Amino acid sequence: MTAEDPIKVMKQKVGEAAAARVQSGSIVGLGTGSTTAYAIQAIGDRLKSGDLKDIKGIPTSFQATVLAKEYGIPLTTLDEVDRIDIAIDGADEVDPQRNLIKGGGAAHTREKIVDALAVQFVVVVDSGKLVDKLGSTFLLPVEVLPMAVTPVMRMLEKLGGKPQLRMGVKKAGPVVSDQGNLIVDVKFDSIDDPEALEKTINNIPGVLDNGLFVGLADVVLVGDIQDGQPVVREV
Ligand code: A5P
Repeated sequence: MTAEDPIKVMKQKVGEAAAARVQSGSIVGLGTGSTTAYAIQAIGDRLKSGDLKDIKGIPTSFQATVLAKEYGIPLTTLDEVDRIDIAIDGADEVDPQRNLIKGGGAAHTREKIVDALAVQFVVVVDSGKLVDKLGSTFLLPVEVLPMAVTPVMRMLEKLGGKPQLRMGVKKAGPVVSDQGNLIVDVKFDSIDDPEALEKTINNIPGVLDNGLFVGLADVVLVGDIQDGQPVVREV
């Protein structure tokens, strides 16, 4: 990608806009993915300049941990805090009810824990992530214990899905999550009731969590290009 890549520009602007909402003294959930990476960098810049003080991050993945360390954001854990003030995280799809599909980076299980605990969960996406119906552009990620992957895939087929084991890039074999589990991506022709599907899939023995985030997002910030200029709007 070049510096002029419009998707990259939208991700950067929306990440920076979310970082600007973080207040001194807060506990901040640090999401995963290329958009949140810009937010983490911008939070680090604000700390360095003195504009922001006394914050602690709770990372949702190994990637977020590495980035937070790189940009000088002190980290803590859920055992040490009694609240998360704000979580900033990306998404793969956002529907008009602000329900999400997440997990393109295989981090949705930890992301859901952190995002759900936050007083304010701010989603950061580029405009290409907005859909009328979940599942229209993206497969639904499901994190599965390795020993249960075959029966879980069978059950997902019975639910009308077409499951496939996510394979690694620059790594032979399947993707292994930060927790040591496998990711099954499922194509559903139509996700009519995201709330019911989220629960039904999570009820299959061996499933850790799936990438449906229903009723969790408080704010969705969208990076867009209008008249050739990057803008950030709230939906
Ligand atoms: C990580 O597992 C995902 O939930 C990401 O937050 C999501 O895939 C968005 O990633 P990008 O910001 O890289 O598009």
